[in-house]
Amino acid sequence: MSELNKIAMKLISSGKGILAADESNGTMTKRLEAVNINSTSENRLLFRETLFSSESMREYIGGVILYDETIRQKTKSGKSISDLISSSGALPGIKVDTGAKDLANSHEEKITEGLDGLRERLKEYYDLGARFTKWRGVYNITEKYPSKLAIHSNAQALARYAALVQENNMVPIVEPELLMDGDHSAETCLIKTSEVIKKCFEELILHKVDLSGIILKPNMILSGNQSKEKISSEEISKKTLECINNSVPTEVPGIAFLSGGQSEIDATENLNLINKNNNTKFIMTYSYGRALQQGALKVWSKNTKDVQATQNIFNHRAKMCSLAALGKWSKELENK
Ligand code: 13P
Repeated sequence: MSELNKIAMKLISSGKGILAADESNGTMTKRLEAVNINSTSENRLLFRETLFSSESMREYIGGVILYDETIRQKTKSGKSISDLISSSGALPGIKVDTGAKDLANSHEEKITEGLDGLRERLKEYYDLGARFTKWRGVYNITEKYPSKLAIHSNAQALARYAALVQENNMVPIVEPELLMDGDHSAETCLIKTSEVIKKCFEELILHKVDLSGIILKPNMILSGNQSKEKISSEEISKKTLECINNSVPTEVPGIAFLSGGQSEIDATENLNLINKNNNTKFIMTYSYGRALQQGALKVWSKNTKDVQATQNIFNHRAKMCSLAALGKWSKELENK
């Protein structure tokens, strides 16, 4: 096993998954203001520190993706956030893209930026404790989108990013996210997601990326949030597995899904069925942001000093996601 493969396996094996706590200050401000909390750097740290010092970190979280601000912050006792995460046995990771901008000549689409100076930034993040990274390409689904241009340019950026990350001895999470916004069918999501992922691998291979040392972070196959189509979790799991089977090379150790705006329970139930029906050789786990943090954030916002109440909610959610990553979750367990 290569060192990179060992890191990847540590992040996703044995029912562990990834906590995506890498919301940019802009996104985190929206999340905090929605629960009437001021988005100061102290408050952002306080919430995240509360999660990262939870008991469930040891058993259920293989790694935490951080934002640039957070990886530089220290706890009240003077410990770095990377050390706090490492002390629970999880690995610190870092989002390294600088965001999605309008794509020239296709202004309704996005291209993710951040390649300039990336090699130097990666060295600094490694020294700050990061052992894995994330870059998110984002695509909308309509009749004409994603365009070939968006598919190609984002795949190339993801591959250039992944090659640089491996050069710096870290595992790149490759995240192509097709948004659930829109009225498209699940079948359309399947076709378009497969096309995007295939192109990503074409570019990753061209850039000589070691596929055994990456983690793919895709969306599940869902119908659009404005669609009239009602699709069951069973169908979601089957279509998602079909997509992974037809587009991901077998060297890849695992898939860590994003939650993408699904409720906590939906994201858990769908992952559980994906694992129950898993006919692939891939580990299938979670790299959730909202679906791991929503409930905890709500409780925390009521009393930011009540660490235990917040951690209880987070511990439960992480445990449910972990059971789903093993195909052992059931709805009844939610109420225990
Ligand atoms: P969600 O699970 O909230 O979609 O966030 C995951 C993520 O990292 C998006 O880039």
